[in-house]
Amino acid sequence: MLNWEDYHEEETTPASSAMLSMAAAPELPVEPAIASVATPTPKQESPAESTDFVAKAIEAVEHIDIAAGLEELEMGAARVSVDEKAMINCRADLNQLVPFKYDWAWQKYIDGCANHWMPQEVNMTADVATWKNPEGLTDDERRIVMRNLGYFSTADSLVANNLVLAIYRLITNPECRQYILRQAFEEAIHTHAYQYCIESLGMDEAEVFNMYREVPSVAKKAAWSLSHTHELSDPNFNTGTPETDQTLLRNLIGFYAVTEGIFFYCGFTQILSMGRRNKMMGVAEQFQYILRDESMHLNFGIDVINQIKLENPQLWTPEFQQEAIQMILEGTQLEIEYARDTMPRGVLGMNAAMMEEYLHFIANRRLSQLGLPEQYAGAQNPFPWMSEIMDLRKEKNFFETRVIEYQTGGALTWD
Ligand SMILES: [Fe+2]
Ligand SMILES: [Fe+2]
Repeated sequence: MLNWEDYHEEETTPASSAMLSMAAAPELPVEPAIASVATPTPKQESPAESTDFVAKAIEAVEHIDIAAGLEELEMGAARVSVDEKAMINCRADLNQLVPFKYDWAWQKYIDGCANHWMPQEVNMTADVATWKNPEGLTDDERRIVMRNLGYFSTADSLVANNLVLAIYRLITNPECRQYILRQAFEEAIHTHAYQYCIESLGMDEAEVFNMYREVPSVAKKAAWSLSHTHELSDPNFNTGTPETDQTLLRNLIGFYAVTEGIFFYCGFTQILSMGRRNKMMGVAEQFQYILRDESMHLNFGIDVINQIKLENPQLWTPEFQQEAIQMILEGTQLEIEYARDTMPRGVLGMNAAMMEEYLHFIANRRLSQLGLPEQYAGAQNPFPWMSEIMDLRKEKNFFETRVIEYQTGGALTWD
């Protein structure tokens, strides 16, 4: 990165003098000695011209019509009251954050900010040594690392694009939008984390980033998610009829309950299981921070869906409920196929059959969170340690713990 010290050092060499004369940008603070050799004098405005510009600016500011900017807001001229706020199809001024109506959304925004982290803070040195050592991992373990980085490196971009290009403008509540903006940044951090892992391990980037098109078990999940964003990402799409409001609900279920609530769980479990066995601890630590964020994304999405149901009960018809159940079951089946593809044999103390049981357990949980009947009777959680890891997010001083562990070069504990 350039800084002013470099600038002063370089200007003593003939080569950089030549560069300076080529650049010759009038706004650069050029030393007088060099300016006299190479830099033309910037054109100065005459006092008369300058006065003219100032007069025009003063006139323009005097004539700003403050009502024009509020025309699109039907209640824009008034102060907003809590009663006017609504999750969808709200016509009150969306620029007024307070008074809050949905405290849970604001609290999640605050909690998300308190959990801030960056991928470069995680030490990847041991992972690089393990990955490059032919004896470091088995072929089945390598397959798991590759497939998961392949799926996740694009999945979080799909989620981020859905947030900002599809649902942001349709969720008509400023405190929810505040959280969506936070979530969008977290998705950028997650994509950064996967890219950082891929780069650190020296993987074939084209191969990994194209798995969502080239590896069937990865591609099917991505295609399923994308099928629920097409209609909404059309700039002409708007809610306001029962059909379009249900389309938005389908998108929210497809992204929050299925993509972030089911599609991430096989991969998270596999990578965290690796970390518990002291393998690829850096990658596993990245995934652990991501899982903590994702737990909150999921909970926010469930709250949003349930609040929309509460305010618009006419949308939650028996037919629509059947459709929602069907979506959860399709997502579960896709994740089971992904588990079979990523674990052709038992590995890391787990196998595809155990993952199928776990995914049934997760699907039941998503169904009941949405107020729908469970579909997999008696499904148990074969990985109770996953719940314990997710509970880490409840630690109030998590950030402080992270800093201490980072400074000692250690990682999160796995017991
Ligand atoms: Fe994410
Ligand atoms: Fe997410």
